[in-house]
Amino acid sequence: MSGLHIHDLSVNYGRRQVLVSLDAGPLPRGQITALLGPNGSGKSTLLRTLAGLTHASSGALSLDGEKLALSAASARSHSVVYLPQALPAGVRLQVLESVLVACRATRGASLQARGAHHGNDIAHAHAVLQRLGIDPLATRSLDELSGGQRQLVGIAQALVRDPQVLLLDEPLSALDLNHQFHVMQVLRDVTRERGIVTVVVLHDINVAMRACDRAMLLHDGRIVQFGPPPAVVTATSLAHVFGVVARIEPCSRGHHQVLIDGLADRTGIASR
Ligand SMILES: Nc1ncnc2c1ncn2[C@@H]1O[C@H](COP(=O)(O)OP(=O)(O)OP(=O)(O)O)[C@@H](O)[C@H]1O
Ligand SMILES: [Mg+2]
Repeated sequence: MSGLHIHDLSVNYGRRQVLVSLDAGPLPRGQITALLGPNGSGKSTLLRTLAGLTHASSGALSLDGEKLALSAASARSHSVVYLPQALPAGVRLQVLESVLVACRATRGASLQARGAHHGNDIAHAHAVLQRLGIDPLATRSLDELSGGQRQLVGIAQALVRDPQVLLLDEPLSALDLNHQFHVMQVLRDVTRERGIVTVVVLHDINVAMRACDRAMLLHDGRIVQFGPPPAVVTATSLAHVFGVVARIEPCSRGHHQVLIDGLADRTGIASR
């Protein structure tokens, strides 16, 4: 079965269970799944677990019907690439170098004639920077970039690795309106062209509605809904999960728009 499946996945931090028996799938190839939910609901934990970086207490993952061991080494061998929510600071590399390092990290030790591929790697790295519109930054040092510029370079480092599964934790959080739209467009195109499984953590529900094929809504470590965004994002689910009074209305072009009118009275909403 094509795509990523999550089977009965649980994660504990110490004695606290933060992901509770998650079941979902497929997260299809060629589609973007938006991972939505309040602060602390478990989105980053789920992404890190999919990347093999956080230990699952139980459960399993499969990609195209083949079991994926829950370890970083196994994730890497299936070309799972993860972009963390907080990017490391104080890195003294130039932008192009940092993208090349990411590119070569994926090919790793299997690369025999590294020199022979050098030119290809550079061309590939430039192409990714160009696609994201940041090739003018190629020779700048990472530690002198703005927050948004650094985030764009992080996305370039992820894309250059040609993943099969692409996991991005809040990749738009530091980006302006233009770059948010542009990055989502690039992600959609790349996801479709290469038939990859893309999972993106987003706080902007309208971006999820407009640019993603599926949405997974987490609340207190559980999946509340998984499906097409309009089926997942409803006034009822937003009240229940985020505690807001919301309207979902079509704009003049027919896109669904979420409008927040206020905070919901959460009394009576069962806390899980
Ligand atoms: N390393 C850790 N040790 C202990 N508890 C943790 C750790 N990392 C996260 N948690 C807890 O696990 C829960 C889920 O955290 P997680 O970072 O997955 O949330 P999130 O949905 O990504 O939130 P946000 O939107 O704020 O990024 C939270 O209650 C958090 O406090
Ligand atoms: Mg997070």
